[in-house]
Amino acid sequence: MKPKAIVYTSNTGHTAAYAELLSERIDLPAYTLEEALQKLPKRSPIIYMGWIMAGKIKGYRKAAWRFNVCAACGVGMTAGGMNADRLRRATGVKDDIDVHAIPGGFELNKLSGMMYGMMKKTAAKVAGDLRAKQDRSPEEENMLMLMTRGAAQIDPAKLARLVEWYKKQ
Ligand SMILES: Cc1cc2nc3c(=O)[nH]c(=O)nc-3n(C[C@H](O)[C@H](O)[C@H](O)COP(=O)(O)O)c2cc1C
Repeated sequence: MKPKAIVYTSNTGHTAAYAELLSERIDLPAYTLEEALQKLPKRSPIIYMGWIMAGKIKGYRKAAWRFNVCAACGVGMTAGGMNADRLRRATGVKDDIDVHAIPGGFELNKLSGMMYGMMKKTAAKVAGDLRAKQDRSPEEENMLMLMTRGAAQIDPAKLARLVEWYKKQ
């Protein structure tokens, strides 16, 4: 079935940026999950996008309970270390639903409350370990930058596979 809308959950804005870019590319409206629960009929066919938290696509279960999710897309920290199969299993996405994993970056200063406290410690630990390494790969250099300064790393090209998938529906 061809999706009629993009529904997303974003915490620091990266997934929202991708949802808006995708909306322009494939000419479908984009709604936050809260908006969609108010505006879209039950079982509407959608593309769901959510930020990755502890290896799972945030909000997916709620979206799948209410809507007909045709494709799911997780937005995580970096391109390396993200595996769509692992994301599928951890999130509990059925085999017949397409899963995509794309990098969004990391911005500690946009987090608040407990999440800020937790990630501040994690970022300091990861940064310390990386600084102690002699030869850092380009991916490790990027990770060190994300852990210390933070950045949004939205790359429109990363939506290509999702756009192709949509065109085939
Ligand atoms: C508490 C927490 C847990 C996270 N866990 C993961 C993870 O398991 N894998 C990953 O790739 N990124 C993880 N991230 C990074 C976010 O998924 C990433 O920064 C994403 O771009 C955030 O999207 P948003 O701006 O739409 O919220 C985590 C971030 C936070 C705050």
